[in-house]
Amino acid sequence: MAILFHCPWDNAAAWLAALEHDLPHDEFRTLSDLTGSGGDVAEIDFAFVWKLPHGVLATLPNLKGIASLGAGVDALLSDPDLPAGVPITRLVDPLMKDRMAEYVTATVLHHHLGLDVYDRQGATQQWQRNRTTDASDRTVALFGLGQMGERCAKRLRALGFDLVGWSRSAKEISGVHCLHGPDGFEEALAAAEIAVLLLPLTADTEGLMNAAAFAAMPPGSYVINCSRGEVVVNEDLIAALDNGDPNSRHPNDGHLAGATLDAFAVEPLAPDSPLWAHPNIRITPHIAALSAAATAAPILAAQVHRARNGEPMHDVVDVAGGY
Ligand code: GLV
Repeated sequence: MAILFHCPWDNAAAWLAALEHDLPHDEFRTLSDLTGSGGDVAEIDFAFVWKLPHGVLATLPNLKGIASLGAGVDALLSDPDLPAGVPITRLVDPLMKDRMAEYVTATVLHHHLGLDVYDRQGATQQWQRNRTTDASDRTVALFGLGQMGERCAKRLRALGFDLVGWSRSAKEISGVHCLHGPDGFEEALAAAEIAVLLLPLTADTEGLMNAAAFAAMPPGSYVINCSRGEVVVNEDLIAALDNGDPNSRHPNDGHLAGATLDAFAVEPLAPDSPLWAHPNIRITPHIAALSAAATAAPILAAQVHRARNGEPMHDVVDVAGGY
């Protein structure tokens, strides 16, 4: 059988090698094979893809499954010609959950300890000690309580942070005050001294973190975006960082004290984006939880075997729900 493989990352060759190792009887085809004379499209029964151009999947008549090479499926689901009835899976890899939990833990601690403030003080050789609070006195709100959110909660709980969580539907996670729905969103924002965004991008989450949401957060709070750039309205974030609030912990900050952003609507982030230049924003180039070929290949191979044996695949996306 054949599998369409579309991976625009710089380590695509390593991905292909890992997949060929775990699916030795399959032929891997790329987009250029589809447009050239690279075999019969009817032989392709699976697609492993990331940021595949829209419309390509609809040209494959015998697909049994479509697997995202990453945890997010928003790019896939935005294809208006998505073949109906073909299951789509997200990549759920324990390694990625750990990486995300490490990134979130490190970033929460960075802001909790005010290391961002020392970065700015250091730029002007300013020796000034600032007080911090106990982790138990700091409320971290996790927006999005999927598998990544749960793993982050576990790590943050071990450090003693007070945890609030918000999700679309009701969840229960030990040690987390779980909220849901619109009322729950307001309550979570009001508590969020550090808001960690782990939400999928859907029609409901696009632009969710806007001026009203930032205003509802406590003065001197922080935003960490590990979901998708479109969830945050950048102009509103910058305004909330710039507009001073006499109650904020650090007198030079605005209503929000800082942000760490790992995801952007357009990547790479344009050199002239005001986000780069803002002293209270730290940018990382979408690395919080990179997919890794070595651990993903056996997971993807197992999905193919399940589909070909007529068994249900794991981690199938709810297409109507958008994630
Ligand atoms: C990264 O953003 C992913 O969806 O895996």
